[in-house]
Amino acid sequence: ETVEWDADAAEKGGYEHYMRKEIHEQPVALRQTLSGRIDIERGDADLDVSFPQGYLESLEEIQLVACGTSYYASLYAARLLEQFADVRTTVEIASEYTFDGGRDPWRTLVIAVTQSGETADTLGAIRRAGGAGARTLAVTNTLGSSVTRETEDSLFIRAGPEIGVAATKTFASQVTTLALLAVEIGRKRGTLAATDARAVLENLRELPGAVQQVLDEEARVLEGAERFVDADAFFFVGRQFGYPVALEGALKLKEIAYDHAEGFAAGELKHGPLALVTGETPVLSVLTEGARPGETLNNVTEAQTRAAPAIGVTDGTVETDSLDLALEVSEIGHMTPLVANIYFQLFAYHIADLQGRSIDKPRNLAKSVTVE
Ligand code: AGP
Repeated sequence: ETVEWDADAAEKGGYEHYMRKEIHEQPVALRQTLSGRIDIERGDADLDVSFPQGYLESLEEIQLVACGTSYYASLYAARLLEQFADVRTTVEIASEYTFDGGRDPWRTLVIAVTQSGETADTLGAIRRAGGAGARTLAVTNTLGSSVTRETEDSLFIRAGPEIGVAATKTFASQVTTLALLAVEIGRKRGTLAATDARAVLENLRELPGAVQQVLDEEARVLEGAERFVDADAFFFVGRQFGYPVALEGALKLKEIAYDHAEGFAAGELKHGPLALVTGETPVLSVLTEGARPGETLNNVTEAQTRAAPAIGVTDGTVETDSLDLALEVSEIGHMTPLVANIYFQLFAYHIADLQGRSIDKPRNLAKSVTVE
């Protein structure tokens, strides 16, 4: 008797696409990211990266350099670094980056955020920073990757291998790793009190479970995707931590569904993009803690007045009866918009799948971009 053995199907563990498998792996990936790195008692993060004595205390600026989804993860993290560590933090698209470190470049920490560790634009940027005398750190998923050879230190996000061209679990693990770093730097600099750090760490501990709750609602996302699959375009809006999530949601949809999608700061809708809004352009929004839900809902209502269908991710902070589709998340402080992002990943996946797209290998794209 012979047993039919399909190596590819086995690799995907019963899922039709790596992307969907990797979306569903997020609770496990996040537990790995967090494992051994939370010290509730001390109210501190415990990362295996050692800065020279006194370095973090004398730090003047943090610069994050990255591309694509890693750039959006960096935008999310920059807000955490500024809040917890009280240090000026800038984020730059790696291909646009030039280092200007002032009189003492060593006091600027430049962090290359790259899942693969092989992105040519990001490698070029970190080389420029290191060459000019800045201290450099890699935040990556890939042990032994090129970026780890270019930087003084490396911090691993431990998401496990990601095969789908669309980054999913690595986005969540990047934000989470950088959140831990923000706690650690904030504690060292004395800008984050132990009790506040504990609250952040508790939220991080609840993150895998909150993500699982979203995954359990996948059937509702599929229904929404079926309803809106023929739309002309999709607009994603958010404020604060919800803004990078909106940008990331739109990128996912562009990449794998080949549909027109844009992410906007919700407050910017009325400054131009509202002209694009019709009954055929669903507006997806982040209406949670950390994303100024009240103001964002006002902007969504403006779009609804122009006939746009509204899909919102909510943690119950605002009344969402007026939405065409409300998707629920648990409130876990600053991390809530990161949980909302899981709905956007599932939405992009199902919009693409309903159209029979080549989800794991979208046209014209490569998993890691090794040319500048
Ligand atoms: C994400 O879905 C994309 N495939 C792409 O934007 C990617 O995030 C970007 O190329 C950066 O890759 P990296 O994290 O490996 O550097």
